Amino acid sequence: MTDYIKLIRPDDWHLHLRDGDMLAAVLPESARHFGRAIIMPNLVPPVVTSQDAAAYKARIMAVMPDGAQFSPLMTLYLTENTDADDVATAHKSGLISAVKLYPAGATTNSDSGVADFDKVRGVLERMAEIGLPLCVHGEVTDKDVDIFDREAVFIDRILDPIRRKTPDLRVIMEHITTSNGVDYVKSAGNNLAATITTHHLIINRNDILVGGIKPHYYCLPVAKRESHRLALRAAATSGDARFFLGTDSAPHTDPNKESACGCAGCFTATNTMSILAQVFEDEGALDNLEGFTSLNGPEFYRLKPNKDHIILRKGDPVIYPEKLMTAEGEVSIFNPGFPLLWQIEA
Ligand code: DOR
Ligand code: ZN
Repeated sequence: MTDYIKLIRPDDWHLHLRDGDMLAAVLPESARHFGRAIIMPNLVPPVVTSQDAAAYKARIMAVMPDGAQFSPLMTLYLTENTDADDVATAHKSGLISAVKLYPAGATTNSDSGVADFDKVRGVLERMAEIGLPLCVHGEVTDKDVDIFDREAVFIDRILDPIRRKTPDLRVIMEHITTSNGVDYVKSAGNNLAATITTHHLIINRNDILVGGIKPHYYCLPVAKRESHRLALRAAATSGDARFFLGTDSAPHTDPNKESACGCAGCFTATNTMSILAQVFEDEGALDNLEGFTSLNGPEFYRLKPNKDHIILRKGDPVIYPEKLMTAEGEVSIFNPGFPLLWQIEA
């Protein structure tokens, strides 16, 4: 029985660090284990220009824990007014690693996102030219589309047409939640990849709704039926390099989650690696864990893997705190619903 795994230090290819007091509280949770993370730009106001990204990066670095070897990889929030020259300059200087597309209204702080996709054609073409990846929140927002169908419809109505018009654009479908997402990535060539979150490997929609509503399992895209969860687990653990970890760890204070109109987001930064080791072990795929967390992402982003390693050891259950205390209030840490036996050695 394996009870020891040495992994190249993992990266998180989709992370919400927020700002201010929340940033200061959640950053150590990611910086402790991860080498790099793609930092989501959905602040209020969003990170739209290269100037915004530089200022946000400075605010992150200002609260970086001493000794942490963690690099925030910045992104710009795509709007219908985004300036292609500004994007290209930010890319050339190494300031940004991707641009993020939110369909307007799809999720938390996405109001400045894109409603008319023709208006961003110029920027997408420029990104294809310079090799800058597009991270996509893949859900339509049409009122007539059921929330559980929004990813599949997005692929057909929005993403596939964009990719046909701009075949050289490198796209990451973020936090896929359906077998449709898995199949679409598998059907495509090297310019398409997908991130998968920790929580979507664990929960299905019953976990959110059966026996009382569980606001801490509510996120967007919302978890789907069990067959989709199983498709995500198969993809994540398969060794296929087009799938890699993007936790979408998204802190909200408990009052904002446990509310008549609760916020979307699961906070997994603290225990993600312990959970993933268990998932990969349960699937008989521990050998593919390093690919998913540490190799496939850098390969798609054309970066080198991290140089150092982490060690996971299996033993007695690891007790993680239930909540992270922040100056804005308590944030519940994702509860996978099973004991976590894999611990990261200090
Ligand atoms: O659940 C989510 N939370 N999904 C998103 O797309 C955004 C995120 C957030 O910012 O809270
Ligand atoms: Zn997100």
